[in-house]
Amino acid sequence: MLQDTIGRVHNYLRISLTDHCNFRCTYCMPQEEMEWMPQSHLMSKEEIIQLAEIFVKLGISKIRLTGGEPLVRREFDWILDQLSKFPVELTLTTNGILIDKHIPALKKAGVRSVNVSLDTLNREKFKKLTRRDQFDQVWNNILLLLKEGFRVKVNAVALHGLIEEEICDFVQLTEKLPLHMRFIEFMPFQGNLWESKKVITAAQMLDIVKEKFEVEKLQDKKHDTAKKYQVPGFKGTFAFITTMSEHFCGSCNRLRLTADGRIKNCLFGKEEIDLLGALRNGEPIEPLIHQSVTRKHAALGGQFDPDYLKTIPEEIENRSMIKIGG
Ligand code: 5AD
Ligand code: SF4
Repeated sequence: MLQDTIGRVHNYLRISLTDHCNFRCTYCMPQEEMEWMPQSHLMSKEEIIQLAEIFVKLGISKIRLTGGEPLVRREFDWILDQLSKFPVELTLTTNGILIDKHIPALKKAGVRSVNVSLDTLNREKFKKLTRRDQFDQVWNNILLLLKEGFRVKVNAVALHGLIEEEICDFVQLTEKLPLHMRFIEFMPFQGNLWESKKVITAAQMLDIVKEKFEVEKLQDKKHDTAKKYQVPGFKGTFAFITTMSEHFCGSCNRLRLTADGRIKNCLFGKEEIDLLGALRNGEPIEPLIHQSVTRKHAALGGQFDPDYLKTIPEEIENRSMIKIGG
């Protein structure tokens, strides 16, 4: 069992398959020229399965595949198929652009739920944010996933000044579509030009939604990162991920494995342990995983104040989001 010093049990692993992405979201990719990880530094498909197997033995029961964009990894279907042989719930977070090509593989592997990132419903804004003119493909793929019976969560990064005019449109979508909208408070990572004034909090967003809709609070589960709501009678739900205004580190059950095979015990942590190097040297992996879990900080990677207004982004040492995988 992967228990840390304050009793949190870790049963959820997020594996990043690549740091590549076919989009260029400004809040995710660093501004400066992006240096991709050299191929030889990435876990091979077999190494991913070997490391995942060790995590599963230690109590991991849910695995999420992330990126960059996980579907740009050519071996995605093979990796998913191999992972499906473990007793785990499998899922992924994707920008949605390639998902139509993978529906059979997802079904075969028993994937039930998919998170799709979509920050705007406006084609022009989409183009600006992702630097790709592919809104329609993403939207059609969301509809396809629903039609194919998947549970679909849509992640929208909430940027102050941008989300205000769209949040009610997103909520409106949940009337007819069984979509689960999640508005994520903007988080600071290396190179993403985070400033506290770009954050809009869940409370502020909820006020905007309440001006237009009647809103009911739904029950959240212990490890949920999202605070869920519903407009009575609507098919879908909406939720806020309140990392900045009210962190949920106390019930964290998550670990991360980066595409270059390092374990990160926290999204905001700077400490990493190189599992891939150890695997390649034939060294034991389990003690390293335990070591990482034991060193986990109580909150926010030990790096910044729970009052986000006091956060100084230049002082945070971390990877950029695209190299962590969310
Ligand atoms: N703040 C909040 N959410 C972010 N994401 C990427 N970067 C940030 C950020 N700085 C989102 C992506 C994806 C999820 C994994 O995290 O849009 O949906
Ligand atoms: Fe790609 Fe997602 Fe990052 Fe956008 S947020 S660049 S889609 S990994």
